[in-house]
Amino acid sequence: MPDVRERVEELRREGEAAIAAASDVAALEELRVGYLGRKAELTAILRGIAELPADQRGPVGSAGNEARRALEQVLEARRVELEAGELERRLRADAVDVTLPGLPPAPVGSRNLLLRTMREVEDVFVGLGYRIMEGPEVELDYYNFTALNHPPGHAARMAQDTFYVDPESLDPELRLEPAPTEPGEGAPGPALPPGPEDVVLRTHTSPMQVRAMEASEPPILIVVPGRCYRSDPFDATHSPIFHQVEGLAVAESITLADLKGTLDEFARAIFGPERKTRFRPGFFPFTEPSVEVDVSCFRCGGSGELPDGSRDPLCKGIGWIEILGSGMVDPNVYGFVSDRGYDPERVQGFAFGMGIERIAMLKHGVPDLRKFYDNDVRVLGQFR
Ligand code: DAH
Repeated sequence: MPDVRERVEELRREGEAAIAAASDVAALEELRVGYLGRKAELTAILRGIAELPADQRGPVGSAGNEARRALEQVLEARRVELEAGELERRLRADAVDVTLPGLPPAPVGSRNLLLRTMREVEDVFVGLGYRIMEGPEVELDYYNFTALNHPPGHAARMAQDTFYVDPESLDPELRLEPAPTEPGEGAPGPALPPGPEDVVLRTHTSPMQVRAMEASEPPILIVVPGRCYRSDPFDATHSPIFHQVEGLAVAESITLADLKGTLDEFARAIFGPERKTRFRPGFFPFTEPSVEVDVSCFRCGGSGELPDGSRDPLCKGIGWIEILGSGMVDPNVYGFVSDRGYDPERVQGFAFGMGIERIAMLKHGVPDLRKFYDNDVRVLGQFR
């Protein structure tokens, strides 16, 4: 018959070792059931004491009880240890380090080059004291043409064919009405309600010249960025939708020299500090005199030649690149806002208008205007 007391000692050693090695609370509970539970060997031994030979009952009984107590103690000690460790681990796993940067850095897009260019142009003029104004893309013929000195039937309207909008389809909120003005000697305003040929998608941002002058008396210095429309093809240099920035400066003492200085400043800011501008005679119905404005070529520096002696293809060997149209505001335009204090005997000013697609293409060497609208990420990604 095996020595029961020795078996008790064995169970105790085995149990203590197993408990010390238990890796979590669940394993510990299994060990408790295995060594001290109702069906455990040690429990059976203690329960069977009475059947042992008389001389063994005392030693086995006390060894068994001691083993039981010892195992209970180490179980409890290990349980405390494991529970503390688990809490620690959970705290560490759940910890949020509020000092870490946001994760993961989400891929961010970039502004389309057109918008970026428009903002750059705006910034130049804001730096010169201009205010930014925007106007409606669905515009009255009156502002788009008539009040800009293109009366109905004027030949210059043909160069700016556009899209007509059914006035019945307009949201009354669109506020196509002119800003309220005091009744004065100004020319009669737009025909209201507009007839079938009176509402257009604006062909330029110039209509805001008249709207802005209706809204505030001189002096006025504004730039107007925005989208324009023409019944044009969609090819490398044309698009039925395009963007312009218009400028208007009217005050008592503004001269053509101010226009030159302003556009010089603009050309230097956008195309580089060495740039110059030159004026060539031009024609626009709403400016008199009108000028076409060129910037000295930023590729060849104005010589028309590349370093290897070949003709500069950017300026076609001329050394100058056309960038915008401009001129002194025609007195006839003031006639439409004379009741707002725009008396051509007292104030004068200049206006200019540029195509943003053209500026961006020139500045960044974009060969085809359609690239701005393709949403090709390989193009967009180059201009971050
Ligand atoms: N609105 C003209 C166009 O779209 C550009 C322009 C020319 C604007 C001369 C002006 C200006 O303000 O003075 O072709």
